[in-house]
Amino acid sequence: MNPLIYAHRGASGLFPENTMESFYAAVRRRADGIELDVQLSRDDKLVVIHDHTLDRTTTGSGLVRRHTLQELRQFRADRGSSSRYSRARIPTLREVFHAFADTPLHFIIELKNFLSDQPHLEELVIEQIRRYHLTDRTIISSFNFDSLLRIKQLDPAQTTGLLYVGPIPRPWEVAKRYAADQLHVPMDQLSAQLVKDSHKHDLTVLGWTVNSSKDIQDAFDMGVDGLITNYPGRARKILRAR
Ligand code: G3P
Ligand code: CA
Repeated sequence: MNPLIYAHRGASGLFPENTMESFYAAVRRRADGIELDVQLSRDDKLVVIHDHTLDRTTTGSGLVRRHTLQELRQFRADRGSSSRYSRARIPTLREVFHAFADTPLHFIIELKNFLSDQPHLEELVIEQIRRYHLTDRTIISSFNFDSLLRIKQLDPAQTTGLLYVGPIPRPWEVAKRYAADQLHVPMDQLSAQLVKDSHKHDLTVLGWTVNSSKDIQDAFDMGVDGLITNYPGRARKILRAR
């Protein structure tokens, strides 16, 4: 089976990250799936943004968690990008699912609950996935391994990915401890041997964040099951030519 191409925060190499603009661009570039980051607003809505603060990617400032959804929607989500995307806003997870639930698109939902208090984030995400009947097309990943275990307790059918920066010497042992189905391995930790050993332990291996043409070729050569890239169009072109 061909490895899957996941667009990291959408086609974020070319469009403002974690916006609908970036997700639609990923679909146009034939990504199999999109990766996005989820956390809670002040009024406990699931919002799609990477940082715990607004400053780097939006026209707002301060903690995401201190703002209601209505407040968050006032900010532009294209800071640092071209003003062509002045209409880009912080999406909700619901908005993303609503837009793509009827397409074949896959999702990696990364829970951003490592640094700030995100009560019941796991429950709320599972609820939203179920509402749109997307369990089979969704992977939940997190650097917070306890959170992945919580997901499995809530829904044993939900695929989870152990996301790490590493190095972890025998990552399959950690995956087993936290009941994860996948390893999301940083590019500098990827090797053909790691992929082989992980497969022996029935783990799916995705590489992140695989951006240059050389890294994309190398990751495919190592036998990854998928890669997470800011440039899904580039990865698709390389895969087609193989
Ligand atoms: O899924 C891999 C990647 O998204 C994890 O790192 O910081 O880009 O969310 P980050
Ligand atoms: Ca992420």
